[in-house]
Amino acid sequence: MSNKGVDQTLVLIKPDALKNSLTGYLLSQFSEFHTGLRFAGTKVVHVSRMLAEEHYTEHRGKTFYPALIEYIMGLAHFPGEPHRQRVIAIVYQGPDAVEKVRETSGPTNPHVAREKKPGCIRSLGTVVPLTNEEGEVIGQRMDNLIHASATPQEAEREIKLWFKPNDIPPCLRIYAPQQSQEPFYYNNGGLSTTYEPGSTCLFAPGDTAWESDLHALHLIQLGLPAPCTLQTVVAKYLVNEAGEGS
Ligand code: GTP
Ligand code: MG
Repeated sequence: MSNKGVDQTLVLIKPDALKNSLTGYLLSQFSEFHTGLRFAGTKVVHVSRMLAEEHYTEHRGKTFYPALIEYIMGLAHFPGEPHRQRVIAIVYQGPDAVEKVRETSGPTNPHVAREKKPGCIRSLGTVVPLTNEEGEVIGQRMDNLIHASATPQEAEREIKLWFKPNDIPPCLRIYAPQQSQEPFYYNNGGLSTTYEPGSTCLFAPGDTAWESDLHALHLIQLGLPAPCTLQTVVAKYLVNEAGEGS
């Protein structure tokens, strides 16, 4: 069976949903019975700062950004408990996957969700006031339980960020993988094809990567403009690696 024309979307079950033991409920809401969608991949991720910042790169510089990063890293809900700081990442697949998951999720702000769409997933979320050292309210954090890709283009970027090709069975992949012909190492913020002490191996020859990542790495290596930064590529291949950039 061909996967041409099949839609995929990324869902993250966020730390507040895990803390409130809502995982089973959320999986039920997204089940094939309710949405017509199926799992293509799933993993438990301890979110590094690098991954969090890549995921929410569009919000860099906004007032709520630091709180958003702490939230997705699990630091807000599980301070001092690294073993509980995680999210569940899921790729759902099926017709109109992006729209269906966004519809089931509801509006971003839980207060708006309760008013506009009672019963949607995010209507079960909460909004937390953020205060400074003097106790003055300086903003808010939206604890809205899940992340859902907003468009098919965003879904592709996000699925490739959270999942390596081999995390998804070949018969369920919709984005092109490619075998790396050469090794790539990451060291002190730079890219290299030779090992130096302290380097982290991104790929060995023969490892499978997303084709678009290998294309970007070759451009970066040549010093040419690339469609994404080195950090974008590195963040994904170091998901759940010990000592990853946190
Ligand atoms: P995600 O599925 O998490 O990506 O949410 P979204 O697509 O509905 O919203 P968006 O991508 O614009 O924002 C990402 C996250 O940033 C949201 O889930 C919120 O937690 C937070 N956020 C977005 N906009 C605001 C805002 O105006 N104020 C605050 N405090 N948080 C925001
Ligand atoms: Mg979004």
